[in-house]
Amino acid sequence: MRHLLKLQDLSREEILSILNLADQLKFERNNNIRKEYLKGKKLGMIFQKSSTRTRVSFEVGIYELGGYGLFLSSNDLQIGRGEPVQDTARVLSRYLDGIMIRTFEQKEVEDLAKYGTIPVINGLTDYAHPCQVLADLMTIRERKGSFKGLKLAFIGDGNNMANSLMAGCTKVGMDFAIACPVGYEPDAELTKWAEKNGNVLITRDVKEAIKDADVVYTDVWASMGMEKEKEERNKAFAGYQVNAETMALAKSDAMVQHCLPAHRGEEITDEVFETHAGEIFDEAENRLHAQKAVMVQLLK
Ligand code: CP
Ligand code: NVA
Repeated sequence: MRHLLKLQDLSREEILSILNLADQLKFERNNNIRKEYLKGKKLGMIFQKSSTRTRVSFEVGIYELGGYGLFLSSNDLQIGRGEPVQDTARVLSRYLDGIMIRTFEQKEVEDLAKYGTIPVINGLTDYAHPCQVLADLMTIRERKGSFKGLKLAFIGDGNNMANSLMAGCTKVGMDFAIACPVGYEPDAELTKWAEKNGNVLITRDVKEAIKDADVVYTDVWASMGMEKEKEERNKAFAGYQVNAETMALAKSDAMVQHCLPAHRGEEITDEVFETHAGEIFDEAENRLHAQKAVMVQLLK
């Protein structure tokens, strides 16, 4: 593995090896065992969108590994004034050991990797959020013991999260179902790939998707950058809420995952969110451990 751009680029073994290392790093942290796996390494973190979890977990993560993180807001970088990504990539490659980037277009992340000479980590694009799904898979395995025979149901927008969950589930052998309105499906090309390599269901029917689910996943109806579509999306997604009624159709021990931030009363009710807050905040914590594992594997 040279970069983390999207999960379908990784083999199943590479994903499992990140998850195993993440478990080990979590154990070491919980037992105050500090090992500076990335002593002196420098990670640039480019943000073209807001972030709480990604920013803090990467910054704390690289610090705990003995390295140094530079927060680079696109408001301040020349990239925000139109300096080409090809040039930014080549310049940053001379100073840093790795780059994490959160931006809009997947192509920008792929170009950064193509033109630079250091590892690039996708910290969210409109297309994918691989770091989040590594933390999700870690949390699911932690709670369920293994991925064998599990079904994940995603209720809502076929967005970056849906794409990466579809890719991640397919890689580790979990069934993936999504219930979404017409016009809000996950990426078509990725769906074709997932249908060939795994067990994927795309339906309009929340009940059909959630039936016998071991993991119920949801995310906001309007992702970052789509705020102006909020009103029409609220209408389109009206029947796509994770609430007590829909949860009753999942397995009785089903867990709930949400990448956060959550909009209570929209994609999820306050009641379901708070009932499952334990596993949702474990999921948020696991961002730290999973990304430390990614950084160790890429930057060491
Ligand atoms: N889930 C997630 O990526 O959160 P942030 O937007 O706060 O980084
Ligand atoms: N789909 C959401 C995920 C946030 C972590 C967004 O892109 O805004």
